[in-house]
Amino acid sequence: MPSTSIPAAFQHRFGYAPLVVRAPGRINLIGEHTDYNDGLVLPAAIDKEITFAVGLNGTDRVRLLAHDKDELHEVALADVRPSPVQWANYLLGVVAQLQQRGVAVPGFDCVFGGNVPMGAGLSSSAAVECGLAFALNELLGAGLDRLALAQLAQAAEHQYAGVQCGLMDQFASLFGQAGHVVQLDCRSLAYAYFPFDAARYHIVLCNSGVKHALASSEYNTRRQECAEGVAVLQRHHPTVVSLRDATLPQLAAHRAELGEVVYRRCHYVVQENERVAQACAALAAGDMATVGQLLYASHAGLRDDYAVSCPELDKLVELATGRPGVLGARMMGGGFGGCTLNLVEAAHVPSFIESMAADFLAFYRRGLETYQTVIVGGVSTVAPGVVAA
Ligand code: GLA
Repeated sequence: MPSTSIPAAFQHRFGYAPLVVRAPGRINLIGEHTDYNDGLVLPAAIDKEITFAVGLNGTDRVRLLAHDKDELHEVALADVRPSPVQWANYLLGVVAQLQQRGVAVPGFDCVFGGNVPMGAGLSSSAAVECGLAFALNELLGAGLDRLALAQLAQAAEHQYAGVQCGLMDQFASLFGQAGHVVQLDCRSLAYAYFPFDAARYHIVLCNSGVKHALASSEYNTRRQECAEGVAVLQRHHPTVVSLRDATLPQLAAHRAELGEVVYRRCHYVVQENERVAQACAALAAGDMATVGQLLYASHAGLRDDYAVSCPELDKLVELATGRPGVLGARMMGGGFGGCTLNLVEAAHVPSFIESMAADFLAFYRRGLETYQTVIVGGVSTVAPGVVAA
């Protein structure tokens, strides 16, 4: 990565002072693949962030500079459309969504970069979308609130990245609160913050090193399978409009008609929603042992019923299980690679990381990348001179 800071790189390249914005990646404590089923999720923004420097340039062109790659992409505003340059799509998608909402986007310059690892399931793409959406909203005085920005960023992901994602990642990046996880009800969009006792427990991520290449196509397939399940259930129970409404007895009653694959997908989602509710109750009661057990159960469901894990993720969870200070572990995010999330007692974190790395090396003959996370606030502007990403 180039050593100059993002604002300095902007000033150097474009010759004027930018607005500076930070946009965090996210973890998700529990509630995986529930967001697009009108369900519950429990994410948090973390201190892996993308920094943006953005300014209006008085032309009709957009100039985007990916600082870490040192690549420039330039396009006329009248020609904004999906590009073969993948990284540019997350940004162009946001511009297109603003345009579709009637916001007149003038020419602007943008330099961005940071330390959210790509393809690790920490939602680097949502951070990129949300950071630019927030910055342009500020610069243009467009008056969109954070929820509107999250939805706009989600739509950008659908249309320019081709992933039919739910709202969780963009919501977490924009609504994160330091020291808290946030429960989002993806149906009502009601949300509530739960304190996370960071003095006693840490969330440590172990990167499988498998980039989730299959993720977008299989992700869309899972969405489709859930929709098929809803269509079957609806024939018998007209009040079921999403898997949020379905129950385990209903699934059992229509198992043959659902077919084994769709049955399993639905079974996982219904159970995972229950686990999120249980995890929130346990968090509120300070019962972290129960939260940990729910993480293990979530992983088992993602592996066996939802089939979005991979051998490396399973191995990491297996290696973490029973290790001193570990309360729970599971794969996190869309799946097919990326990270496991490990809930670890603070005092055991150094030995956890060391012993996991040693065992991973012994098994796979390669190093294990781990990340300690701090839960931070959502997207915000940064005072000039503060950031040095
Ligand atoms: C990806 C998507 C989210 C969510 C998770 C799985 O991160 O972007 O919307 O569906 O996968 O929980």
